[in-house]
Amino acid sequence: MMMRSALKPGRHLLSGSLTLPASSSTVVVRPRLSHVARYSTNSLRISGHETSIALKNVEGVKRTRTDLTGLWLRDNCRCSTCVNQDTRQRNFDTFQIPHDITPQKVENLEDQIHVTWPDGHQSTYTWNFIDHYLCHDERPVESVKTQFFGAEAASNPPSVKFDAAMREDDVGMADLMAKIRTHGFAVVQDTPYDDPKHTERLLQRIGPIRETHYGGFYDFTPNLELADTAYTNLALPAHTDTTYFTEPAGLQSFHMLSHKGASPGEKVDGGKSLLVDAFHAASILKTEAPELYKCLHATGIPWHASGNNGITITPNKLYPVIETENQQDPDTPVHRIRWNNDDRGVVPPSADRWYEAARKWNEILKRKEMECWIQLEPGNVLVFDNWRVMHGRSAFTGIRRICGAYINRDDWISRWRNTNFPHEEVLKHVIG
Ligand SMILES: [Fe+2]
Ligand SMILES: [Zn+2]
Repeated sequence: MMMRSALKPGRHLLSGSLTLPASSSTVVVRPRLSHVARYSTNSLRISGHETSIALKNVEGVKRTRTDLTGLWLRDNCRCSTCVNQDTRQRNFDTFQIPHDITPQKVENLEDQIHVTWPDGHQSTYTWNFIDHYLCHDERPVESVKTQFFGAEAASNPPSVKFDAAMREDDVGMADLMAKIRTHGFAVVQDTPYDDPKHTERLLQRIGPIRETHYGGFYDFTPNLELADTAYTNLALPAHTDTTYFTEPAGLQSFHMLSHKGASPGEKVDGGKSLLVDAFHAASILKTEAPELYKCLHATGIPWHASGNNGITITPNKLYPVIETENQQDPDTPVHRIRWNNDDRGVVPPSADRWYEAARKWNEILKRKEMECWIQLEPGNVLVFDNWRVMHGRSAFTGIRRICGAYINRDDWISRWRNTNFPHEEVLKHVIG
């Protein structure tokens, strides 16, 4: 269970005492008083294998929790003996620590507590760390200022220059990652298109290219031997890719290297790319038809890829169209959209109102103001979050050569995190 009522760091004053009850070896330590101290009172009581920490902030609001155990505290020692400072991996065997370990001595200092354990090992914990876990069970995910987009984004899409994105200092990469995180997509402009290798290098700078049954980095012209409508000249309605994987592709990208007539002099036409912000669509559905939103969130659906000889892929379980950060709670932020009506399997007959919900969803996706149409051009690499942004295209004539690749979600989010936050903050979020 998460407790959401966070104490705000930096707003408290520290003074007072720390006591251990008589049942354990009692130590009372008077902290050094300081004008920058943060708590008006605080105490840490450790009894048996239960730790009780009480803090009172300047407004007099008292926080306590009694389920932080001595073992928990010892397990979270971050000293250079306990944690490999290069790999940040735990360097000791948790299960060699007695389950009912209690500190021998606790010193309550200005910014941290200092604990001496029965075997003489010494640990320090910042008040920030204690403070956080007094009110929460986990670190929050980094905040993202999601900005919905619609048709209007076509005239001024979020963009980054290729040379900037390739810079060793990662400033341009930080910008590219932040734009995709905020808007769901970005265009990398002025990318050389004489050879697909430039696009491949760009995408490899984001993260490892994902191999699938279609291969890794792709460079294709229409060809039905690949047994997917993506490889034809046909129009494609808005969809997310790889709905049939347990973990769908994180990023998808397209770079149209050329678009030529099939015969000399033939005029070419069409092939605009369609982007639809599915998080935006989900918020509209939730407002206009909350019951239908709940239905697309609650109903697991089978998805599949069966067009290639010897390959039949389906996720580990049924997945709904709309997934939220906490799937138990449809009111938490939308986390992932899975939508490709062509790759969908059999709707469970017991799923009440699913067709009605999907019809409404489909209607929202096709609203003019939702459809962002972008003309792919040589030099412009379109990169988008496949968990959020749907893509499609209009039909086209002639022959297009398109290259691109998938990148896993964890890899691109790691790249975003590491280029947009200081290292210490990254570690605090992930392991702090
Ligand atoms: Fe696709
Ligand atoms: Zn340690």
